[in-house]
Amino acid sequence: MPIFRLERLVTSTGAATRSQARGMIREGRVRINGEPARVGMRVNTESDLVTLDGEPINYVRRVVYMMNKPKGVVTATEDGKDKTVLDLMDDFAKKRGVAPAGRLDKDTEGLLILTDDGELIHSIISPVKEVVKTYEAVVSVIPAPDAEERIAAGLKLWDGTEFLPAKMERLGDYEVRVYLREGKYHEVKRMLAAVGAPVAALKRVAIGRLQLDPKLEPGSFRLLSEDETELMFREV
Ligand code: URA
Repeated sequence: MPIFRLERLVTSTGAATRSQARGMIREGRVRINGEPARVGMRVNTESDLVTLDGEPINYVRRVVYMMNKPKGVVTATEDGKDKTVLDLMDDFAKKRGVAPAGRLDKDTEGLLILTDDGELIHSIISPVKEVVKTYEAVVSVIPAPDAEERIAAGLKLWDGTEFLPAKMERLGDYEVRVYLREGKYHEVKRMLAAVGAPVAALKRVAIGRLQLDPKLEPGSFRLLSEDETELMFREV
């Protein structure tokens, strides 16, 4: 049943902290179905109309952010040494308890999703869901002529690591695009090194059909709509 304490509904919108929400309720600014509300009341988010200063407010079930991760920042919620992607987020996101969906290396930039929905994180990173991640890499050596073929067949490294079949496209002599369906440790870097092309710079540009917003400067982030979130699960 979609029943929550009123304070939780108000804080879910980002309009207030918990104590501010209580203050708003006490001041009579929050109404349930037109009646003044009291702190601690419960609301049914499907059938009750809740207003703040006369404007309807809806329970925000989950928050999903797109970040343009900059280089030099680690994909973690905390780290004793380095600055983390969480350090770049605002207080609302931190209070919601967002976490990154998957990991980009410290020196990799580009599209990173952060959300407070654990199931969504699992769906994005689980290889079973086959959500395609698209990367663009600058390489320091031109890839071997058979690189596309070997990557498409599924590379096996000298240490026994096997990568699922993937796709590589050449954008120029020293620039390639790679499409992956899994996210093994340093996968793009190890894959391209295996075809003779060490990576000099790496950027994730898309997850499924969701592209990195070109207006987002490195280090900035924005909320995604539900429609944009769904784009991640559309076939590439
Ligand atoms: N592959 C890598 O090698 N590094 C990343 O950050 C992501 C994919």
